Amino acid sequence: MARHLLGIEDLSPEQIVGYLDAAERWFEFNRSGDRKASVLRGKTIINLFYEASTRTRTSFEAAGKRLSADVINVSSSGSSVTKGETLRDTARNLQAMRPDVIVLRHQVSGAPHYLARHLHCSIVNAGDGLHEHPTQGLLDAFTIRRMKGKIAGLTVAVIGDVQHSRVARSDAHLLRKLGAHVRFCAPWTLMPKGAEALGVEVVTNLDAALEGADVVIMLRIQRERLVDAMLPSTREYSRTFGLSQRTLARAKKDAIVMHPGPMNRGVEIDDAVADGIQSAVLDQVEAGVAVRMAVLESVAAG
Ligand code: NCD
Repeated sequence: MARHLLGIEDLSPEQIVGYLDAAERWFEFNRSGDRKASVLRGKTIINLFYEASTRTRTSFEAAGKRLSADVINVSSSGSSVTKGETLRDTARNLQAMRPDVIVLRHQVSGAPHYLARHLHCSIVNAGDGLHEHPTQGLLDAFTIRRMKGKIAGLTVAVIGDVQHSRVARSDAHLLRKLGAHVRFCAPWTLMPKGAEALGVEVVTNLDAALEGADVVIMLRIQRERLVDAMLPSTREYSRTFGLSQRTLARAKKDAIVMHPGPMNRGVEIDDAVADGIQSAVLDQVEAGVAVRMAVLESVAAG
């Protein structure tokens, strides 16, 4: 198995299915009474997070602990990063403590690849800038496969701030590799240039994106990354690109609605949809722990 998980782009369909199948076993395990396995006993995992996170960080922590690893959480706000230490120095100091895995979230695209080149331990990318968020891609695919029974042949609409979304990129790579048809939908100011090169269909109209979709993935407007007037107003955005019961009716009747979180209710998604019967948002979160157990087990063993 691979020593690192840096992105979906470099994985083969077989490697992806390998992770999903392993996650399936951990998913059932997590639903059992005893959620402690000894596979990573004696291993140390450091979660090094330079950006805010609730789901991803907790999920990696729960995953490591359920596998009996020692898990240490470092967030930039309470660390020497605030004193001006570079990523390289922080990482080299952490490495001196002999961890087996560093899980990194960083605002710079390529930061985990940089650590993978310079450190001896395994690196798992928990989101790098605008680039990739591979475990989110895997948990999204896991959720779709579980709820739809397959991925190949499905139409998946990814809607919102695609420009700033590492989730959109990882999802597109993964779902395309497994044979889904992927549509990106955003106002043109929030659509990355050359998005077609990812093999996706590009649309700038919500109805066109939803038409016949089996899966609808909504994205948050990443205000912290917006540089200038990329958006007219929240109200205008919500009116044209927000998902409501009314607009969702364009998708297939049995379509599922997903969101990586955090949701901005009333902006990209209405309460009625977020909490409705088609919502798979909390299924994604449950899948996240199982997927991260599969990933940590695999990289720590490799
Ligand atoms: C996403 C992220 O950080 O890339 N969240 C997550 O990890 N579930 C999406 C976001 O912040 O909007």
